[in-house]
Amino acid sequence: MILTILHYPDPKLREKAQPVREITPEIQRLADDMAETMYAAPGVGLAATQVGVPLRVFVVDIAREDEPSRLVTFINPEIVEREGEQTWEEGCLSFPDVSEDVKRAVRVRVRAQDRTGAPFELEAEGFMAVAIQHEYDHLDGVLMIDHMGALRKLMVHRKLEKRLARDARP
Ligand code: NI
Repeated sequence: MILTILHYPDPKLREKAQPVREITPEIQRLADDMAETMYAAPGVGLAATQVGVPLRVFVVDIAREDEPSRLVTFINPEIVEREGEQTWEEGCLSFPDVSEDVKRAVRVRVRAQDRTGAPFELEAEGFMAVAIQHEYDHLDGVLMIDHMGALRKLMVHRKLEKRLARDARP
């Protein structure tokens, strides 16, 4: 099922997500729906907070369209190591038509549970590391606008506020 992606400045995007206590069929369904929603958008990552569910779950697939999919589901992720610094132009499904250069770690090591609840550890670098850090931020209510300078922040806020008001009209 394709879920509705919340757009900034929806206050639900600021909620701090809670740990998943048990991997139930509902949680698996959520992860599957999130993947379907991400592919349909299309996007390379989606966090549960972006679909209004404040739980620590996100999905990432950075494969290009001509590559086989490499979906990774992260439940209760922890970034346990960060190393180096890189800047990528990022986008976000909650910030339509906005992109921004964001500084992140080059390499991260993440511990999480997969869709079945099995723990795994993953080391990522480059774009995959960026995607993981971006989605991880979402779980703490941190958004790409928080990485912007004051003037840019104001411009993006105004632009998306207008857009949200326009979309809300019947
Ligand atoms: Ni995002």
